[in-house]
Amino acid sequence: MKKLIGPKKVETAVFISGTGSNLKCLVHSSLSKHSYIKINFVVSDNSKAKGLGFATKHRIKTKVYKFDKRNNPEKKILLDLKKKKIKLICLAGFMKILSKNFIKNFDGIILNIHPSLLPKYKGLNTHKRAIENNDKFSGCTVHYVTPKLDSGKIILQKKVKIFKKDNPKSLATRILKQEHILYPKAIKIAVINS
Ligand code: GRF
Repeated sequence: MKKLIGPKKVETAVFISGTGSNLKCLVHSSLSKHSYIKINFVVSDNSKAKGLGFATKHRIKTKVYKFDKRNNPEKKILLDLKKKKIKLICLAGFMKILSKNFIKNFDGIILNIHPSLLPKYKGLNTHKRAIENNDKFSGCTVHYVTPKLDSGKIILQKKVKIFKKDNPKSLATRILKQEHILYPKAIKIAVINS
């Protein structure tokens, strides 16, 4: 594993596709003098991602990369990350799957937050699946990103109770609140243990 800890805060990029509520919490917690990271780049595949506006307001550089059948921007992203000396990537609601090549060639650590208690419910629609299976609990997980989707080593998890009256939306809202607490804690652990 790459060593991240040093006298300076770790240069960090957050990858988003949508709302960016996790991005917001990460930015706020990174501003504390006790934080180990400095977020100086936000990457998105979606020019309409709300989180981009938040980043700009906080004077964080953003860049939107177009992903389509003919165009895979991963090489460009890697180059930009290198230029910016980024050593930590936090995926936060980023809806593209990064290739094995990208993961291998990035000189640092990649983390992801996933809205289920992994290894349960990898992939999408996690809340619906947990409710349909009559699970008593769901939750969220922060893990290292490896080429196998949602399967890297788990850093932290938080359990959230599922109530009878829950629907995917109400459960998602409660879990998201816990994600916001869990992600900064997991980042600290990942940096210290690097
Ligand atoms: C979160 O539930 C995260 O776990 C999942 O996508 C959602 C992103 O939410 N991967 P936000 O954009 O951070 O608000």
